[in-house]
Amino acid sequence: MGELQHKARKKPVLQIKNLHKGFGDLEVLNGFNLTLFEGENLVMMGKSGSGKSVMIKCLVGLMEPDQGSIEVLGNDISTLARHEMDELRTEIGFLFQGSALYDSMTVRENLEFPLRRHTKKFDLKNTDALVHEALENVGLPNTINLMPAELSGGMQRRIALARALILQPKIILYDEPTTGLDPITSKEIIELMKTIQKKYNTSSLIITHDVDCARVISNRMILLLDGINYAEGTFEELSSSKDPKIMAFFK
Ligand SMILES: Nc1ncnc2c1ncn2[C@@H]1O[C@H](COP(=O)(O)OP(=O)(O)OP(=O)(O)O)[C@@H](O)[C@H]1O
Ligand SMILES: [Mg+2]
Repeated sequence: MGELQHKARKKPVLQIKNLHKGFGDLEVLNGFNLTLFEGENLVMMGKSGSGKSVMIKCLVGLMEPDQGSIEVLGNDISTLARHEMDELRTEIGFLFQGSALYDSMTVRENLEFPLRRHTKKFDLKNTDALVHEALENVGLPNTINLMPAELSGGMQRRIALARALILQPKIILYDEPTTGLDPITSKEIIELMKTIQKKYNTSSLIITHDVDCARVISNRMILLLDGINYAEGTFEELSSSKDPKIMAFFK
């Protein structure tokens, strides 16, 4: 099958077109475009302060764009009512930087939390089975009654990933999934992300500045620079670029 034919068959699950967002005189996003295809791992890199989090906030409806359109699973989010947006959010899993588990809740309670908030999508009778499946997926079935403080940093990240997956989202957003972890634990988390992607055919947008992580996990990459999608391509294409602005990302 030719490359073009292959591309044409892929379905976008996320489409951002001409996104503009600024704060007063500060133009953060200035005509940014992004497409995430079904089943792919798209890595996005951008300097600190370049607008990655602003983009994510626009994407999940926490911030309103100044201009541009955002489609999630075929829905133009500007046309959705609040409850419709809430429902759509159950299709998007988040892994926040630094895990962000609830310190005063056990692992079980942390995982049950999203389920209780979305009783519409999930029958609460199945909670136990879903919690166990999520813990099996991240290889930590025996932590169910522990508190976050009793877990190592790597284990906390795994539990956070289990929580992001528990609503069985079609899209996962990872914000710096390996930051703060040692190289071996980082590799384990990356392997886990790959395993999960294969098992559930999820589509992932991965924000990272970890070049090793990008090399291992990306099917495609996008570089955010000066408010736009400055460059896109495979890891090999971008990392061998002679453009000094692109080369700077791979140092
Ligand atoms: N609510 C806000 N009000 C005013 N300015 C904001 C707001 N949110 C973000 N900004 C500004 O927008 C710019 C982009 O911020 P953003 O948090 O998206 O950066 P980032 O790319 O996620 O950086 P990092 O890698 O450090 O997380 C920054 O200059 C920030 O100060
Ligand atoms: Mg950020």
